[in-house]
Amino acid sequence: MKRSSFVLSSLFSEVVALKRRSSKGGGILCCSFSFASSSSQYVSSSSSDAFLSRENARSTRKNHNRGKEERWRTTKARSFSSSQSNEKEKKKPNPRMSIVEAVSAAIGSFVIGSLAAYLIEQQEEQAAETEEEKEEETKMKENIDDDDGKIKKKKKKKNTWRRMFFKEAKAEAASVAGTAAPKAVKMYTRLDVAEHDSIEKRVWCSYKENVYDVTDFLDNHPGGRDLLLLAAGKDIEPFWRLYQAHVNSDVAMEMLKTLKIGELDLEKEPKVDVDETDPYKNDPERHPALKCHSAKPANMEPPLSLLRREYLTPSSLWFVRNHSPVPIIDAATHEITIVSGEQSQDNLNLLRTKAVINLEHLKKDFEKKTVVATVQCGGNRRGGLDLIKKSSGTGWGEGAISTAKFAGASLRDVLEVHAGINLHNYERLGIKHVIFYGADDMRASIPIEKALSPFGDVLLAYEMNDCEELPRDHGYPLRVIVPGHVGVRNVKWLSKIKLCSEEADGPWNRGIAYKGFGPGYSSVEGLNIDSVPTMQEMPIQSVVAEAENISLSLATTSKNDDGEKRTVVQTSAKGFAWSGGGRAIIRVDVSANKGLSWQTATLKEGADQPLSKAWAWTFWEIDDLEIDASKLKPGDEIKVLVKAVDASYNAQPEGAAAIWNLRGLNNNSWHAFTVKVEE
Ligand code: HEM
Repeated sequence: MKRSSFVLSSLFSEVVALKRRSSKGGGILCCSFSFASSSSQYVSSSSSDAFLSRENARSTRKNHNRGKEERWRTTKARSFSSSQSNEKEKKKPNPRMSIVEAVSAAIGSFVIGSLAAYLIEQQEEQAAETEEEKEEETKMKENIDDDDGKIKKKKKKKNTWRRMFFKEAKAEAASVAGTAAPKAVKMYTRLDVAEHDSIEKRVWCSYKENVYDVTDFLDNHPGGRDLLLLAAGKDIEPFWRLYQAHVNSDVAMEMLKTLKIGELDLEKEPKVDVDETDPYKNDPERHPALKCHSAKPANMEPPLSLLRREYLTPSSLWFVRNHSPVPIIDAATHEITIVSGEQSQDNLNLLRTKAVINLEHLKKDFEKKTVVATVQCGGNRRGGLDLIKKSSGTGWGEGAISTAKFAGASLRDVLEVHAGINLHNYERLGIKHVIFYGADDMRASIPIEKALSPFGDVLLAYEMNDCEELPRDHGYPLRVIVPGHVGVRNVKWLSKIKLCSEEADGPWNRGIAYKGFGPGYSSVEGLNIDSVPTMQEMPIQSVVAEAENISLSLATTSKNDDGEKRTVVQTSAKGFAWSGGGRAIIRVDVSANKGLSWQTATLKEGADQPLSKAWAWTFWEIDDLEIDASKLKPGDEIKVLVKAVDASYNAQPEGAAAIWNLRGLNNNSWHAFTVKVEE
């Protein structure tokens, strides 16, 4: 067993080293990181030293974090390999095992068996590579130019690693004297995999018909354990489609192979009986990372850990807010009608003939405009309001918000061409609202001023994130994008546009669905609903998407001018902020002591948007958030709080209680993210 541990250990160290070499452009990387010592450091006695002490703490923490990474790359790799082998050793033979496997397990050679299987799978590849290597060496002797030479050297290293690994594995295979049948694999169903969705039950995943136990790899995953846990009990492929580095380099694939425990028995796949009468049977497949609040209709949000990774949210991770089944629309024949409403005689003259347009016309005859916009559901963070008192509607977390680059025709241009409406005549014609109808029977309106404003940027969008088609869940083939306004106005599957003196009828404008009442109203009884305007532009919002746990070992002590001792520790946090109406984010404040003191975060992507046309969110981060460590002990929890300020100097309210409302809308209270205190 020692030898098999060594083999796994070698594999990990080499895989990591290989990766490091390749990520540094071929040069061999020598890292020596100094780990922080376990006790607090006493630094100095002046106040300027307090600053130095903070800076020290910051850099020590950075080194510590780099140290964590390094640990993954070296020590943990080893401990992973041994814990993996130990775990397998402890396992009792499973009655479902084949005899050969049982024998193999009985002699404690499961790992070796896997390696042997892997070895055989790889023999052909190795042979091919040996050929390739010989060829390379010949070429190297032929004085290849410097750059090229480096590449070859790198490849040679890789093959050295491979040779080492295969040599060891071969020896192990020989030592079990052929008892480990390399091809005897355990078979599992997808249901078996799905049952292993937590650390307690062990974390399994599948990938291309193979089954893996990734439990012992969780803490070693370079992308973090939380991301890997998102795939617990599921197929990894949709995740790796997002993070293609896994498939583009062989590092992740090699690691995955060492975690294999069996294969999927596709013949035993449970038959899914399609209920032909189910109106949702044609809904599209959704990304498994989305948290499902309801499947029919689909109401799903991405986890914060993925939401803050990319400025433009990948389309498959966008929050889904549907009211009905996703309509099936043929883009080639789909038509959009533009009509005037029940207007005065004058207004009826305006549109003597209604216009019927199609997608091809929008694409061909109108300038293609692009807008990067954040869309947020009016009920985002409703779950936080529900903690005060249950409101009504989906209990969204913080993820009912996403950002994309949309492309399409300007609504303003289309209204001018097809209805003759513009900024000069709309008032005279008595037009106050533009109503959008979706093929799912949704309808919602926006004020005409927003639709016609040259600065409103309202789009009839047919593209999302540079993809030529909108995904079905996000309005294929055409949706409205009303930047800065609440999500519901961005009507999907657009089929009709109506110009009207009245706003849309139905729950989404005139009903209570998007009206905010005072915290004292638990029902609408006695309320004049018509007097309460429906939501259009949204208030300022900010969220902490990630924050690092606190390491007490990194605390530093210093004295201020009055000679008082202060022990502090630092942490880091990241998130996003956004405000409705295009109001740019001008500041983000973060606190780790219940709001007694605040530090200003650094604004990142999105900070350069125009002050009054900032349609998309602004990312922020802070890496030196200070926490008084004098009373902290391991196991404590700290809340990292955030609040933002927009270009109109709007700020967020402290608590949710003061803004609780019957429909659970507009929760923009300070957001809190809990971190743990560690030794
Ligand atoms: C057992 C399955 C997995 C294995 C073996 C694996 C392996 C790896 C490896 C080797 C890297 C480093 C790649 C590099 O530096 O080029 C990595 C990074 C990463 N992984 Fe995975 N991974 C797995 C599952 C996942 C899943 C399910 C997700 C997403 C939910 C994920 C997200 C990421 C991300 C975002 C990074 C980049 C981290 C960074 O750049 O900070 N991985 N993974």
